Amino acid sequence: MRGNAPWLKVQVRRKSDLGMNMTIASRHPAIVLLHGYPFDRSMWREQIDFLSTNGYRVAAPDLRGFGESVAQTSVCEPSEIDHRLKSVPLTTMDDMARDVAALMDELKIDQAVVGGLSMGGYVALEFAKLFPARLDGLVLAGTRAPADSEQERQARFQQVEQMFAKGMSGIAEASLPKLLAPRTLAEKPEVVARIREMILRSDPKGASAAQRGMAARRNYSDDLSSINVPTLVIVGRDDPIRPVADAEFMHDRIRNSRLEIIEDAAHMTNMEQPEIFNAALLNFLHDLV
Ligand code: MLT
Repeated sequence: MRGNAPWLKVQVRRKSDLGMNMTIASRHPAIVLLHGYPFDRSMWREQIDFLSTNGYRVAAPDLRGFGESVAQTSVCEPSEIDHRLKSVPLTTMDDMARDVAALMDELKIDQAVVGGLSMGGYVALEFAKLFPARLDGLVLAGTRAPADSEQERQARFQQVEQMFAKGMSGIAEASLPKLLAPRTLAEKPEVVARIREMILRSDPKGASAAQRGMAARRNYSDDLSSINVPTLVIVGRDDPIRPVADAEFMHDRIRNSRLEIIEDAAHMTNMEQPEIFNAALLNFLHDLV
């Protein structure tokens, strides 16, 4: 445990600091939203606005190494598999989950609904294992429980080498057709531009550290049956990165879960179809109280 994470930049919205509105907000659970890789907290803009307008307290941090949060080197030792990358920093999912708990301490949030997209989902699963008593609910979007195969790990290490050699631009162009559904690519140029810009402004060092951390992540499959908070699993119908089968796998094993499949969306469901994503989130949150 590293104590608090004073460098973790966070965007917090309250409905208002006026008494009446705070009373409304305090009836609702707090929500913590964790971004994917290689993005930052700005990916949750539509959810932060929507949830705070509906009276929820929302915290959306830039995870360690992303956005305005400074890249940190973990104390973890490099594994056998990635020995050639040992000079690259490593941020584990455990590091990020502990950062989230420290942030909640700082914000005086004892319990929250913790939601994450993709890498954010791995962090949410890690958080659920480490701090089950601090969870009011879970939202797992475009993510999966099993660890990487050896081939997937090697692909991550290649991407780390590419990021160090050439920066983020190659990754942005190669990723966009997988992150976004054909309809988003054709009809929502502003979403395409926002995602491209998020990737381009990512710090290669922070992104590499997280890539190594994802390669080293645990297999969460056996944890799923122990999750006993209400859980919303969300997936884009056209997601080639974390397809519907990954979402069904989690939904089948998490007792109190519901599954939302979003049409005309791939990996970035919350940005591609924000109204549908927000409606699913709000229904889920309403049913918690
Ligand atoms: C993400 O969007 O966070 C990544 O696709 C996660 C991953 O690479 O496994």
